[in-house]
Amino acid sequence: MIIRHEKELKRYREAAAKSMQILRALFEAVKVGVTPAKIDELAEEKCVELGVIPCFKGVGPKNNEYQWATCISVNDAVVHGIPEDESFKKGDLVKVDFGINDDGWFTDHCFTKSVGKPNEADLNLMKVAREAIQAAAHLAIAGKRTGDLGAKIQKTVEAAGLSVVKEFVGHGIGHTMHDSPQLPAHGRVHTGAKLKEGMVLCVEAQILDSSDDDIYVEENGWTVRTEDEAKAAMFEYMVVVGKKKPIFLTNTLDWPLF
Ligand code: MF3
Ligand code: CO
Repeated sequence: MIIRHEKELKRYREAAAKSMQILRALFEAVKVGVTPAKIDELAEEKCVELGVIPCFKGVGPKNNEYQWATCISVNDAVVHGIPEDESFKKGDLVKVDFGINDDGWFTDHCFTKSVGKPNEADLNLMKVAREAIQAAAHLAIAGKRTGDLGAKIQKTVEAAGLSVVKEFVGHGIGHTMHDSPQLPAHGRVHTGAKLKEGMVLCVEAQILDSSDDDIYVEENGWTVRTEDEAKAAMFEYMVVVGKKKPIFLTNTLDWPLF
């Protein structure tokens, strides 16, 4: 959607604040011995508490709709991980993707957290992913093109010898979770749709600790994994396209990595 009035921006900030409050609780809860299913349950409880609806439920194909509040992807699971019963272990790289529908205002964001102190490779992966995606989010300026953001992510990631997943995209958001434009996490500068002031965007990418970007989807139809079992990191930030600089709706930029 495109935000046209201060009142709309204020309302969106409220929705994002609720969403972040829940996301922070999920962040704190990711620990050794806790299961993804438990984190998902916590997300459900917090939604009830705040009177909002988890917005991932019901998304997807008619015969295999997503049934959970969160996507929790661990280690080589890249994205769309179904929250299951296997406990987190020390060193796990956990991506929690979560969004709400707050009376018609949708949010969608994601953090990566290492369970306990990360090893050097994992810390580097998280740092590169975060830097690349945040740098792209800072390009959410009127007149820039979607390819400018994608190129920024790809260049940053590949310069570090890592790779970016090409099959999934960032997106506009608003009164639906997925709105135009699509935001590939790779591409070339000066290409793609022009960003307009007030557009609400989810800038997201999945970054792999490998030069190989091959992935596959598990038999459950959702959980995406790396072919070579490399670990993945993912972040997603919501921003409003500004005249000179973006307005961040999700202020999760400086969250800890473990
Ligand atoms: N961040 C994901 C996206 O933008 C979350 C939705 S996946 C869902 O597509 F299917 F689980 F909803
Ligand atoms: Co998204």
